[in-house]
Formats: sequence, structure tokens, C-alpha cells
Amino acid sequence: MDNVSAEAFRDRIFDFYRLNRREFPWRETRDRYAVMVSEIMLQQTQADRVAPRFLMWMERFPDVFSLAGASLREVLQLWSGLGYNARGQRLQRAAVEIVERFGGTVPPEPELLVTLPGIGPYTSRSIPVFADNLDVAAVDTNIRRVFIHELHLPEGIAPAALRRIAEELLPVGRSRDWHNALMDYGALELTSRKSGIAPVSKQSRFKGSRRWYRGQLLRELLAEGTLAIPAVEERYADCPYGISTIVDALVHEGLAERNGDLITIPGT
Ligand code: ADE
Repeated sequence: MDNVSAEAFRDRIFDFYRLNRREFPWRETRDRYAVMVSEIMLQQTQADRVAPRFLMWMERFPDVFSLAGASLREVLQLWSGLGYNARGQRLQRAAVEIVERFGGTVPPEPELLVTLPGIGPYTSRSIPVFADNLDVAAVDTNIRRVFIHELHLPEGIAPAALRRIAEELLPVGRSRDWHNALMDYGALELTSRKSGIAPVSKQSRFKGSRRWYRGQLLRELLAEGTLAIPAVEERYADCPYGISTIVDALVHEGLAERNGDLITIPGT
């Protein structure tokens, strides 16, 4: 892309942002831990739903150490409602590793962040972008949609190619504002429906899905502390996937522990 159209694109995004910027609690902080929490919560949950949960989380777990020392049960209880419980569990594992490997300081380098549980290529960049204003490009599904639509790129563009373009367009020294602006433009002006560009992974219908049964079971387990497998099998006799395969999966992922006929939350 030539310099003139790159500049025009940046102006359009920043002009929109000046008039329409959204306010979120994670935009008020430069604390890398808080930004990490918000980015992981935002991975698959809408920002408006995340905001109150983020504030509750920061009250209970204000820093890496408080999270690292918490019980899995409390972590999952505070996470419940956000969906994808494994993300809450991975966030805590990340906190434990940050204490052990980095003395409790969330590292600012994407190359180190990406080695932590639950942090992938996008989040490893978005954390230092929002916390430190680091000049790297972070491309999530919303930003991808903005680039493809506004720059007339092919929908099938390879992630690496898209990231190269994103790096070229990044206004140096304004990375935080730029990424917030792209997110707001994508969320408010260029919704998925308006652009006709589908997200990369489409969420399956939720109720009655495997993930739904998994969530139900985990919620019960959090409330009760212990569940008897025969009773679970009876209650979920209608589960088309076989509830015991879901129990096995929870055990396999470390979200539940099995002792004979009983399942519990590990560490309780
Ligand atoms: N989605 C991912 N990161 C976000 C952010 N910082 N603000 C709004 N939505 C987001």
C-alpha cells in the first residue's frame, strides 16, 4: 500500500475514535497484570459483559501473587459466567509461572509472554501494546475484519501476511491508541454483519452443546464441592455425548479430580 492511502486510512480510524471511543476499566490502567486479565477475559466474551467481571476479579485478585495463591475452586467460581472455564484455570497457571520464573512481574516481551499458559500470539502482543504502548501489531478477529474490509484484502489472506501489513500501518509511538481505535471501529462501525466478513472460527450454537454440558457440570461441581458419578450419570442421562466422556475431559484438563465414584475440584 502506498503512503498516501496508509495515511488516509489511519486518519479515518483515528477520526472515528476521537468521536466514538468507548470507555472500559482496563483502558484506565497501565498495570500489565490487569491488562493480562482483561485480555484473557476478552478473548471470547463481549467487552460489555467483561467489564463488571473484570472489576470483581481485580478486587479479589489485585495482583499476580494473590491469584497464584488462590484455590482453583475460588478462581473458577469467580470466572463462572464468563464461559470457557479452562481460560480461568490457565490464567491462574500463568500467575503461578510468573511468580516462579519472573518473581511476580508480568514480563513485557511478547517472546516470553507467549510461553505462558493461555497466552497465544495475539495476546502476547496485545498485553504490551495496551500496558506499555509497545510498537508491535496485534491482530485479533475484529482488527482482522477492519483491515480486510477497509483495505480490500482477500478474506483468505494468511495471518502472517496480514500481520506484515499491520506492522507497516502501525503509527509508531501511538500503538495503544491505534489498537483501541481499531477495536472500536470494528465493534461499532464495522460489525461482522455489516461487513459480511465471517469470523475465523464461528461459535457453534451453545445450548445443548458439548461445551454447555461441560459448563453445567462444572457449575454443579463448584457449588457442591463433590459430586457422585452415578448420580451425575442419572441426572444427565439425556446428554447425547455421554456425560462420562465429559467428566473424563474435565479430569484430563485438571479441572476435576476423580476418586472412585466421586469427583472434586483439585486442591479442595
Ligand atoms: N477485545 C480485546 N481487547 C480489547 C480491548 N482492549 N478493548 C475492547 N475490546 C477488546
